[in-house]
Amino acid sequence: MTTAVPVVEASGVGRRFGPTVALRDVSLTVRTGESHALVGRNGAGKSTLVSILTGLSKPDNGTVAFGGEVAPPLADREAWRRRVACVYQHSTVIPQLTVAENLFLNRQPARRFVISWSKLRRQAEELLGEWGVAVDPDVPAGELSVEDRQLVEIARALSYGARFIVLDEPTAQLDSQAIERLFGRMRELQAAGVTFLFISHHLQEVYEVCQAVTVLRDARHVLTAPVAELSRAELVDAMTGERGGLTVRDAADREPLTATEEALAVRDLSGDAFSRVSFVLRRGEVLGLAGSNASGKHQLAETLYGLRRPRSGSIVVAGKPLRPGDVGAALRAGIGCVPRDRHQQGLVLGLSIADNATMSILDRMGPAGTASPGARHAKASRALTDYDIVAASPDQPVSDLSGGNQQKVVLARALARDPDVLVLINPTAGVDVKSKEALLAVVERVRTEGKAVLIVSDELDDLRPSDRVLVLRSGRLAAEHQAGWTDGDLVADIEGVDRD
Ligand SMILES: Nc1ncnc2c1ncn2[C@@H]1O[C@H](COP(=O)(O)OP(=O)(O)OP(=O)(O)O)[C@@H](O)[C@H]1O
Ligand SMILES: [Mg+2]
Repeated sequence: MTTAVPVVEASGVGRRFGPTVALRDVSLTVRTGESHALVGRNGAGKSTLVSILTGLSKPDNGTVAFGGEVAPPLADREAWRRRVACVYQHSTVIPQLTVAENLFLNRQPARRFVISWSKLRRQAEELLGEWGVAVDPDVPAGELSVEDRQLVEIARALSYGARFIVLDEPTAQLDSQAIERLFGRMRELQAAGVTFLFISHHLQEVYEVCQAVTVLRDARHVLTAPVAELSRAELVDAMTGERGGLTVRDAADREPLTATEEALAVRDLSGDAFSRVSFVLRRGEVLGLAGSNASGKHQLAETLYGLRRPRSGSIVVAGKPLRPGDVGAALRAGIGCVPRDRHQQGLVLGLSIADNATMSILDRMGPAGTASPGARHAKASRALTDYDIVAASPDQPVSDLSGGNQQKVVLARALARDPDVLVLINPTAGVDVKSKEALLAVVERVRTEGKAVLIVSDELDDLRPSDRVLVLRSGRLAAEHQAGWTDGDLVADIEGVDRD
């Protein structure tokens, strides 16, 4: 890696949003052929920097250069596309169009204004084949898995000529096997001359797939270093500006649960992607649910809070049968949820933090949903501190918040109604390592208040506060682990491999 000219160089970049300074005099150099990690706490400025590096917004001051040449004007989208592309956590493909149409949208091979569909399809096939993406070009993009959708977006970027690709939290919604496949592809592409800027809150991934790392903290550049020269503890210290590691409390360290009432009983439940699942969740208990993305764990959790209708079996909440497939009924029965996708089910982006955080409790705060703005404001101000949310004020629209801080608003809302049973799906997705502690401490608190918690997660750290972890494989309960399990044993069960 001796190429003198960096792929991209940002110098002295600054960006404000009203009173918020998102970037302050930030410089970043990414060298050709490396995978460069960009890390920092929620709200540190990572995505803002990415929007500047990809020409989606203009810095207030500072410069960006690609391969030593000054960046094109913002209006020249074509020129930007040839230099850089970003694959986001949320999709930028159009779900109703096929993969082929998404790949060649606006540049279809046209003869006298007639689109040549067969040519379009052939080009898409060639492109996907060239980069080893095993996806059917005729499938509507909306039917792709997150993993395949990301690969299609990468192929699209490469087809425009870009050899610098930004991945903004690509692993947040992938299970461990899909992450390994993504990293495999990244290494192959890197060998073929592609440079990556990689954003993740999973620090072990930085060590696995990157050679250099840059840390942002409070809108400033803190350090850039070769990954090999920085310990994990040093990296966390740089991100937090404090010394001392992290503590996720393991349920094995606390007093075992004494027998309490049943909060939720699931009997012989079958539905989309799972069958004949039975378990009991008691008040004060934290139950983990693990499995690959194909295990059916998300569908099971979504059935519990009424988003999906079961095929057979029963769900009983505090002794009363729950009306199946009815989110409102589940809410009234005392089930709160953090849904899987905050963009689709979690938040109303245009509304304020205060509105979002109190939305499900409007009926409790005043007659007929007319909670006073003052009461909402007070409640939301408290949520900002309780959940470690970085925001200018509770009146800020949720769309202004960084990704991780939006996730914290979703959790605040789930708890605002004071539910007896909490169903949390990937509750810390996109949340930085330090804020994770705060969120998991909230789980610990509601547990001691006698609520029951079901945590469905791809992350082992999220499962540590669980008294027990159930493992779902191919839609069936395959194993149960008591607190104190080892990572290796749990992962082996999730993946269905025998360790001996
Ligand atoms: N459009 C906007 N309007 C107002 N404030 C904004 C806007 N976009 C970003 N911000 C603010 O700028 C700061 C940096 O946000 P950014 O999204 O860059 O953080 P991030 O490092 O990507 O965090 P995360 O890890 O949570 O994704 C935050 O305080 C955020 O609220
Ligand atoms: Mg971000």
